[in-house]
Amino acid sequence: MRKAFDGLRAVDNVDFELRAGEVVALIGPNGAGKTTLLNVLSGQLRPDAGRVVLAGRDVTRWPPHARARAGLARTFQIPQLAPSLTVREHVEAARLRGRLRGRRPEPEGLLHAVGLGDKRDVPAGALAHGDRRLLELALALALEPKALLLDEPAAGLSPAEVERFLQLVRGLRAERDDLAILLVEHDMDVVFELAERVVVLHRGRVLAEGPPPAIREHPDVQAVYLGARP
Ligand SMILES: Nc1ncnc2c1ncn2[C@@H]1O[C@H](COP(=O)(O)OP(=O)(O)OP(=O)(O)O)[C@@H](O)[C@H]1O
Ligand SMILES: [Mg+2]
Repeated sequence: MRKAFDGLRAVDNVDFELRAGEVVALIGPNGAGKTTLLNVLSGQLRPDAGRVVLAGRDVTRWPPHARARAGLARTFQIPQLAPSLTVREHVEAARLRGRLRGRRPEPEGLLHAVGLGDKRDVPAGALAHGDRRLLELALALALEPKALLLDEPAAGLSPAEVERFLQLVRGLRAERDDLAILLVEHDMDVVFELAERVVVLHRGRVLAEGPPPAIREHPDVQAVYLGARP
């Protein structure tokens, strides 16, 4: 697929598949096109060329909410929350938008899973940054997704919060062996801990793709990305 902004090819000729049950990390330098690719997948942007296929259906022209209902959930690089709504109100609203339309899962269970059980009545605007990220994750999970797209979920988290996030994803994987996760992340410890496959974007193109050990050793990846981040 392809997506350009005023002639700048932010995503250029990327052919990408996320299969049920796998965790794929999408890495690359700032401006590589990672968020743009997520936006095309989730429907925030239309591609200039190419298609988005979700569980065998061509969803390229579907708006984001229709994709969410079909099982595609995402989080944003900057959390998208309503400051005056409480944690619990956010989760209730997200459940009603989801694939199973509020039948499952229970808000309390979700809040407990992300560690926000005791903050259920706090307005989102009063949450600390790390808790906002975890709430966003709970909202994505409330959609009971088949595919989950995460845009830098660990950015700005404390080490303890990163650990909570890792545990949560590990738990999800154990519980939902068909859930596909696409993780955009700069924290290489998180990437190498969770991903089975890593896709490296550079200037909108796939520079390399493979299992974490191969990516870590890849000379081109070292040169454009990992080398610059000791
Ligand atoms: N809405 C937009 N309008 C114009 N240019 C854009 C827009 N969104 C992204 N771009 C440009 O497209 C390129 C890719 O941006 P993108 O946000 O996808 O990168 P990224 O890999 O997510 O970077 P980061 O790691 O900093 O989040 C950049 O050059 C960016 O300036
Ligand atoms: Mg980005």
